[in-house]
Amino acid sequence: MDGNGRWAKRRFLPRVAGHRRGVDAVRNTVQACAEKGVAALTLFAFSSENWRRPAEEVSLLMQLFVNALQQEVERLHRNGVRFRVIGDLSPFDPLLTGLIDEAQRLTAGNQGLVLTIAANYGGRWDIIQAVNRMRLAATDHDVPWTEGDLLSYLSLGDLPEPDLFIRTGGEQRISNFLLWQLAYTELYFTDTLWPDFNVAALDEAIASYRRRERRFGRTSEQLSSVSVARGASG
Ligand code: IPE
Ligand code: MG
Repeated sequence: MDGNGRWAKRRFLPRVAGHRRGVDAVRNTVQACAEKGVAALTLFAFSSENWRRPAEEVSLLMQLFVNALQQEVERLHRNGVRFRVIGDLSPFDPLLTGLIDEAQRLTAGNQGLVLTIAANYGGRWDIIQAVNRMRLAATDHDVPWTEGDLLSYLSLGDLPEPDLFIRTGGEQRISNFLLWQLAYTELYFTDTLWPDFNVAALDEAIASYRRRERRFGRTSEQLSSVSVARGASG
């Protein structure tokens, strides 16, 4: 979710105004995804690098996170959303981590959209924390680890790999988001600034995704013969 600051700047508003509108865009996007039957939505809210921002902006973002949890969790729960946060939560204020715990516990049994907020998250951090936990859990150090072993220790190890990655705000970078999981994800970049992201923008991203051919290393011809074979078998 990128472009809050520029959205505000264009309107001669303080950056915080952009972040506030960004929260509205989150609410609308979550609702749209839930209605469309999207299985999982993961939002990059705060990266491990975002601590480098001015202290005032960082504390404001934390305040917005607290407010959003206080105001939105009930509604998410009513809508069957399973809420989770990934990232290194150790530097966060206990008030915030308390609200996160509570929201995760409340919604743990829900069967709808899995909504994950990445906060103080970095893709490299995720891989390293997985390796370290795997190392501690290992009993036999002579058996080589597999990708599947590592996967179960990654923050999103229980979810299917993402089909679509959307970055708003015009930059064409992953910026240390889900590095492991994005290996075969379709990447979509849009100039739309995050506060302007709405259902129409989401539909455009999904339409772009639908035009792509996902070969996973195979040839186009192999894919069409697979679908012909499937069609033949009913
Ligand atoms: C993204 O918008 C929000 C967060 C990183 C929390 P930015 O704040 O990065 O907005 P720009 O890139 O300055 O426009
Ligand atoms: Mg930015």
